[in-house]
Amino acid sequence: MTQQQTGGDVRLTGISKRYGSFAAVQPLDLTVPQGSFFALLGASGCGKTTTLRMIAGLEEATTGTVSLGGRDITGLPPYKRPVNTVFQSYALFPHLDITENVAFGLRRRGIKSVRKQVDDMLELVQLGDFARRKPHQLSGGQQQRVAVARALINHPQVLLLDEPLGALDLKLRRQMQLELKRIQTEVGITFVHVTHDQEEAMTMADTVAVMNAGRVEQLGDPADLYENPRTTFVANFLGTSNLIEGEVVSTGSDVVVSAGGGKLRLPTGRCPAPTTKGGKLLLGIRPEKISLAHRDDADEIAEGRNRVTGRIVDSSFIGVSTQYVVESPAGKSLQVYEQNIERDARLTPGAEVVLHWNPAHTFGLDAAQDIAAGVETVEDAA
Ligand SMILES: Nc1ncnc2c1ncn2[C@@H]1O[C@H](COP(=O)(O)OP(=O)(O)OP(=O)(O)O)[C@@H](O)[C@H]1O
Ligand SMILES: [Mg+2]
Repeated sequence: MTQQQTGGDVRLTGISKRYGSFAAVQPLDLTVPQGSFFALLGASGCGKTTTLRMIAGLEEATTGTVSLGGRDITGLPPYKRPVNTVFQSYALFPHLDITENVAFGLRRRGIKSVRKQVDDMLELVQLGDFARRKPHQLSGGQQQRVAVARALINHPQVLLLDEPLGALDLKLRRQMQLELKRIQTEVGITFVHVTHDQEEAMTMADTVAVMNAGRVEQLGDPADLYENPRTTFVANFLGTSNLIEGEVVSTGSDVVVSAGGGKLRLPTGRCPAPTTKGGKLLLGIRPEKISLAHRDDADEIAEGRNRVTGRIVDSSFIGVSTQYVVESPAGKSLQVYEQNIERDARLTPGAEVVLHWNPAHTFGLDAAQDIAAGVETVEDAA
């Protein structure tokens, strides 16, 4: 497929949106590199759609500018921006067949010979055999792909996707995530994808911007965000984190913290600066980084690992892993995910256990934040 290569980065500078006295989007600076798959991730109401609509020109920004490849497009109406949007409701024309739905943008511009381009597009989204069907004769995932083809045929420099997979069931969502990623790689244009599903954002995007209450809390590649969250919101919203309150007892190449009646260690480089003796700190550890040992086997745990003793209060077997909830002085419900390789039959609710992990896997967060930020919102969104 041929594509315009004359794009450029999308740059938002001080962009904000107020509705009366309510700030839907706080002044925000953001650069989306040309050709990247960029995700805006956040809970319902945090300002994702509003941000996207300001890029599309469907919403007027209260302050700030939008530029594309260095050109200020803030004042341009939507149809003059080299941008197309795919919405959650695919908004296909029910009376037109798939070919005519995809051809729509070309026809509107007075282009008569659409056949080749439409065929190419349908091939790209693997719907060549469906060209003569009407939208209601397609599955949700197929209709979704028609919507993508219909937008891409206009050769936008940027494709905006607002929860495009929201209406699909989980399995189809997963398939479509990979499919959209493939299409993006193939056409090489910039995709800005809005979702409240953190797994979806991490699966698809090169860069994820985590939004909370009209602000971007943190931005980075998925693995970096996951391993190095800088706020409790990001730690809790992106996957699950165990956050343990502690007090710093010594500093050096490692920071030692007293927490839950014991001592835990973490690398100084993973702590917020400055970390001083006597100060409070939140220690974060992801559930899959923790190992569980029955209390009777505690002697076999290697030296130098962080340890927390506790009691299993719940366990759920979910196939690839078993997820335990452990009550301990360091936290009322610590989450532990153990891969199901050799299961210890003694690890059942009521069992006394030791949680242990490599101190290097621990991250530190500023203790002045709400420890539960981002926790409830995950459940709301589910
Ligand atoms: N036209 C409007 N007038 C007043 N408030 C609005 C308007 N549009 C959006 N808002 C408010 O702005 C905030 C951000 O809305 P937005 O649609 O951007 O959220 P979102 O992150 O896309 O949420 P969701 O995941 O539910 O789609 C919300 O609190 C919403 O109620
Ligand atoms: Mg929205």
